[in-house]
Amino acid sequence: MNNQEQIDYWNGNAGTTWVNSQESMDVMLAPLTAPLLAAASAQTDERCIDVGCGCGDTSLQLAKTGANVWGVDISQPMLVRAADRAKSLDLKNTTFSTADASAEKFSAEHDLVFSRFGVMFFTDPVSAFRNLHSSLLATGRLCFLCWQPPGKNPWMSTAGAAIKPFMQEPATPPDPRAPGPFAFADTDYLNGVLDQAGFKNIDISPVTAQLHIADNLDDAVEFQQRIGPLARALSELEGEQQAQALAAARAELSKHMTDDGLNLGASCWLAQATAR
Ligand SMILES: C[S@@+](CC[C@H](N)C(=O)[O-])C[C@H]1O[C@@H](n2cnc3c(N)ncnc32)[C@H](O)[C@@H]1O
Repeated sequence: MNNQEQIDYWNGNAGTTWVNSQESMDVMLAPLTAPLLAAASAQTDERCIDVGCGCGDTSLQLAKTGANVWGVDISQPMLVRAADRAKSLDLKNTTFSTADASAEKFSAEHDLVFSRFGVMFFTDPVSAFRNLHSSLLATGRLCFLCWQPPGKNPWMSTAGAAIKPFMQEPATPPDPRAPGPFAFADTDYLNGVLDQAGFKNIDISPVTAQLHIADNLDDAVEFQQRIGPLARALSELEGEQQAQALAAARAELSKHMTDDGLNLGASCWLAQATAR
């Protein structure tokens, strides 16, 4: 088994879209990033791997603490953005590499394996986390954020639900544990994956926040058309059907607009564990 489907996905439109949305994405995710960084508590000179580092936001923030950060990702366009940002900030304690985190040959010399939403895309999660475990010193630790189920994440599911009537029912129900944003929504399953991979002292706790999606309805619709379930669903529709679905999503989002723009709830799991 390999992650070729994900490699193609993150090097195609998805990668370019994330690069184009990088600034707004990082601002929007900040209320979730802060508790993740606090839990990771990276120290000066510690060696950290940022798994699925994407455009580098968390790698740069970890590096600012004085830690040495290695950002690994499978997406070329996102890694280019990450490296450019590190260069412009003159952060010399960062390295970015194209690497499949599930297969990269790591040496056991790292203090921290870290990720913001970059570990839910492995074809074989147990084998991938075993590989990440092999990168840690005996004193090393794991700290990452992943999403709770769609129903707990209105910021992603609200618009997607509105266009459900326009979508064809899949012939077989989708596997909720398939690689994708919600693969670790079930904590029993996640706990089992980490346990089988060799991690100890596993702790999975909720982190929630209101995310500021946009200042106005046009920007909110535009953002959700680019990233998330609405974007994916719209890509499967054409012509009049697509226009009607988009109108339904807009109407639903409009119900949630406030004087402060569109703010919707987000729920994640903060997973922490030790190597031994
Ligand atoms: C949802 S994005 C998150 C990006 C970044 N961590 C952030 O929070 O902005 C998921 C990232 O995981 C990366 N990714 C997926 N599978 C991977 C793998 N097997 N090895 C390394 N990176 C992977 C994708 O390329 C993408 O950059």
